[in-house]
Amino acid sequence: MCGIVGYLGYRQAAEVCMEGLLRLEYRGYDSFGIATVSPEIAVFKETGKISAAKDAVHLKGTCGIGHTRWATHGVPSRTNAHPFTDCTGKIAVVHNGIIENYAALKRDLEKRGHTFVSETDTEVIPHLIEEKYTGNLREAVSKILPLLEGAYAILVIAEGTEEIVAARKGSPLVLGVGDREYVFASDGLPILDYTRKVIYLEDGDLAEVTPAGYTIYQGKKPVERKVATLEWDAADVRKGGFAHYMLKEMYEQPEVFSNTINSITENAAALCRIREARSVTVVACGTSANASTVFAYLMESVCGIPTRVVLASEFKYFPTPKNDVVIAVSQSGETADTISALKIAKERGAKTFCVTNVLGSSLTRIAETTLYTRAGPEVSVAATKSFTAQVAAFMEIVNIISGGMLKKAVAEIQRYLPEALDCDVESAVELVKDASTLLYVGRGLSYPISMEGALKMKEISYIHAEGYAAGELKHGPFALLSKETPVVAVCLPGSTYPVMMSNLKEIKARSAPEVVIGCVGDIDAEEIADVFIPLPKVSETAGVILASVVLQMLAYKTAVALGTDVDMPRNLAKSVTVE
Ligand code: F6R
Repeated sequence: MCGIVGYLGYRQAAEVCMEGLLRLEYRGYDSFGIATVSPEIAVFKETGKISAAKDAVHLKGTCGIGHTRWATHGVPSRTNAHPFTDCTGKIAVVHNGIIENYAALKRDLEKRGHTFVSETDTEVIPHLIEEKYTGNLREAVSKILPLLEGAYAILVIAEGTEEIVAARKGSPLVLGVGDREYVFASDGLPILDYTRKVIYLEDGDLAEVTPAGYTIYQGKKPVERKVATLEWDAADVRKGGFAHYMLKEMYEQPEVFSNTINSITENAAALCRIREARSVTVVACGTSANASTVFAYLMESVCGIPTRVVLASEFKYFPTPKNDVVIAVSQSGETADTISALKIAKERGAKTFCVTNVLGSSLTRIAETTLYTRAGPEVSVAATKSFTAQVAAFMEIVNIISGGMLKKAVAEIQRYLPEALDCDVESAVELVKDASTLLYVGRGLSYPISMEGALKMKEISYIHAEGYAAGELKHGPFALLSKETPVVAVCLPGSTYPVMMSNLKEIKARSAPEVVIGCVGDIDAEEIADVFIPLPKVSETAGVILASVVLQMLAYKTAVALGTDVDMPRNLAKSVTVE
């Protein structure tokens, strides 16, 4: 979704902002823009890809702001792109979030003679500032903030000044503190090239940055904020010779899995409240919800602790049992649905945890306890290594709570993940790539893995795919089966195997071609499959995690074969900051 960048220092701000916006591309956008002060305000806006317009930007000045827009109020267009200026063109603003009362504010401003050019909610902000601005930008911004209802992270610049005024409420904003230079951004990625020292602004913070330094205010009072260190490295956000970020990130999974296991082990003391819980509710969306479902299976079967997964957007309709533990799971830590679910859980008196990949993200400010996954930055919209990291975190939580019951599975995954990444999926790609519908099936732990496989396939290849518990097919989806409807099945030796084999036979009897991910040497599964993808001989728990990597590879290679925009699939945003 929208991303913002601001720069003040000794470099050309337009260049820093453009580079920063490229770093934020992964969030999803349809248009973008920048503004600099030199000493007048100059604005550049465009629709489409940032890289296509890079050479057209000639704005001068060492103080500037930039924005990628993901349309909410008004169509994607140059006019609706940020930054927005006031009537005089002397104040420019970029904004993430939604100003809920903008319509009323706009009507009042129009009555007072202001002229609007766009359909956006954001445009009210520079006009409101214009009315209060008499030479002190910070004061003017602080006077209008109480008028804004909704969520915002804003950056403001004004003609003839060398300063950026920033404010945050409900939308993320990070300030990078370099040597004689400052970078604002929606997350740490645009900052990494300049400094690793960052301040995560809090709700209600207003920051004023000038060449002399920065001051952060809550209301009128200056406040101290901790300077944190970004753990990520600038090299982590480069493709490093891979054709796509998604492929690079998939290959990082063996390291990520081990890093996350260590992260949870270091935090073992924090797990006692989960161990003592009467029940656990996990809230998450999309891929994070699929990883959470793996957790629920493991918690119930290994630890005997009742655990349910509720989609974060549905959580408000579920009463939380008293004293329940609620764990919010989110790679970005900024997903609006998950944040809102965790806030509700807290209001209801739950003990709150979050599992996230982003240090200082919004979820970490709400949860009483934060457990970090150590996946490093994930640029590809399709989550891969962050999923594996979440699964690693969950496996280690269960391992610790159960006194070591998953030790063997964890070791097997660490040993065999590289082999799973090298699996041959080419024949499977041929079998699925021209289908219009795919069904993914599994039982037990393989069920959430199948849902995740289907999600990966649909989001990057645009082939309709659904994940089902294999036993459910006969309760309706069988009607879809034909030789045009391939089924992708995870069928590994273990508790689910015998009945899974029966399900495969039932599917075969209805002419559907089958891709089966099984265990090397399983002649029966190989015989029934149209395409058999063998995994190393490991325990069922380890096997399904290896299978999830194979399903990622199948989705990736299918998308490449179909020529889609793998890293930035249509209509999607990496960080979904609206409910
Ligand atoms: C799919 C994907 C999404 C996210 C979902 C939640 O590949 O990435 O389904 O998992 O939007 O995002 P986070 O984990 O950041 O809360």
